[in-house]
Amino acid sequence: RMKKVIQFILNEQAVCIETDPAGRLLDTIRHILGYKGTKEGCGIGECGACTVIMDGRTVNSCVTLNAQAEGRKVTTIEGLSGDRMADVIKKAYVEEGAVQCGFCTPGMVLSTYVLLKENPKPTQDEVRDGLSGNLCRCTGYTAIIRAVLRAAKELSGKEPEKEGSD
Ligand code: FES
Ligand code: FES
Repeated sequence: RMKKVIQFILNEQAVCIETDPAGRLLDTIRHILGYKGTKEGCGIGECGACTVIMDGRTVNSCVTLNAQAEGRKVTTIEGLSGDRMADVIKKAYVEEGAVQCGFCTPGMVLSTYVLLKENPKPTQDEVRDGLSGNLCRCTGYTAIIRAVLRAAKELSGKEPEKEGSD
């Protein structure tokens, strides 16, 4: 297929590559640029393992074309290393037992990050909703929801509230 030069920002670094504009952004990020934290699960936009943040919103990179990244700001899980909010989220996932095989975790953390940026104090339902595009085969979601609520509380600098006070 025809190649084209695509330019975007990935994890704060300018990327300029000659590639198939109709190729999958997932392959570019994972295989060409080497950011392996972006996973491939279903490959059809349903599991969220391939989640990246594009201009502040989560997208499934397996159903995003390279051309769609042109001029955008893209962040993978690697791009959040050292970010305080991401660190609090990751720690909460571990502490709540929300990481088992870990396959869904990068995508979950990215979706949690965007959710908490937009809505720093989500209800349980809002967390469920915010993570509805991310599937986990291992944990059954309860621990994940607890982790997100815990991170939200830690980030808002408050003591955890009592059960059922929402
Ligand atoms: Fe992209 Fe499942 S691999 S949504
Ligand atoms: Fe295994 Fe979520 S921890 S898929």
